[in-house]
Amino acid sequence: MNRYTVVLVPAADADVWTERIAEQPGILGIQELPADGTEMFRPDTAHHFVRFDQKREFFDWLRRETWRRGDAIRLKIWHTGSLSLPGDLPIVESGTEFHRNYTRVTRRFHRGRCIGPFWVGPPWREPRAEKIPILIEPGSAFGLGDHPTTQMCLTMLTAHRRARDVLDFGAGTGILALAARRWFGHCRLHLVEPDRQSAREIRHNFKLNHITPPRRIHSSLPAGAFDLVLANVYLDALCHLLAALTHGIRSRLRPGGYLIVSGLLGADQRDEFISFAPTRGWRVTQQGYRADWFALELTQGNHALIFRASPKCSPLRH
Ligand SMILES: C[S@@+](CC[C@H](N)C(=O)[O-])C[C@H]1O[C@@H](n2cnc3c(N)ncnc32)[C@H](O)[C@@H]1O
Repeated sequence: MNRYTVVLVPAADADVWTERIAEQPGILGIQELPADGTEMFRPDTAHHFVRFDQKREFFDWLRRETWRRGDAIRLKIWHTGSLSLPGDLPIVESGTEFHRNYTRVTRRFHRGRCIGPFWVGPPWREPRAEKIPILIEPGSAFGLGDHPTTQMCLTMLTAHRRARDVLDFGAGTGILALAARRWFGHCRLHLVEPDRQSAREIRHNFKLNHITPPRRIHSSLPAGAFDLVLANVYLDALCHLLAALTHGIRSRLRPGGYLIVSGLLGADQRDEFISFAPTRGWRVTQQGYRADWFALELTQGNHALIFRASPKCSPLRH
């Protein structure tokens, strides 16, 4: 049994508070919850809010994302005993509860899998000889290759043969960047990952794959021109990214470049993203659909936005 304390934090600064609390001694884990305290995780599989559990209400809850857009969210903090909190955060609940070691659970289930031409698995398993190996150490970062969004991004990037500069926006474990390096050869990798623990895991995974880790992992969109942008995040972040690339003031897609996005849950989010895509120049060239998640590939050109309403996984080549 472990002690837990639940505090209320402003939703807009939740990541900052999580970081600050995680740095305190004796912290075992922190979980984000909606302000009303609804528990949406199946405790044997979830270790982070991005891990989904197939429950209908979980999808609805994620789809609405109101818990992230509201004024406040709850942080449930597991700790070993005496907890010193930074700032003057209101404590709304405390008690004792069994806290699972999610990393241990994840290690048990991360056995290796084939995704398109890649084999993604842990360093202690033998990769499939005919596949391109990507070794990922399970930790707390998202991106073991078990999620449909990651799988669709991996498959979609292999539709391309060349890229000099690849941006992995929301890199998690670094899985997409590692796949891009393996697939395109000596491309330059640019990574964005605001979560500091994930950034540490990215460096570790690069070393596991004998690839020099990037000198800098950015916490927000870096300046530059890219041939391929991979972004498996969530609707709001994707809309901001699309806007930034559309205006191309600091960051832009090179002519003929592609943007592959995922993290869009359900047709509503896909449609919202597409309706947000300013009609100037963006067109959808591939669509993936798996377990209610969508992935899209877009490019800029002189064409109007072309989009086929079918939710099936379909290449849309024109
Ligand atoms: C769903 S995971 C994707 C991980 C990996 N790229 C994959 O495809 O499996 C999303 C990642 O984006 C990061 N993230 C969250 N908000 C972000 C933002 N506003 N900008 C960039 N990255 C963000 C999260 O920390 C998380 O690691």
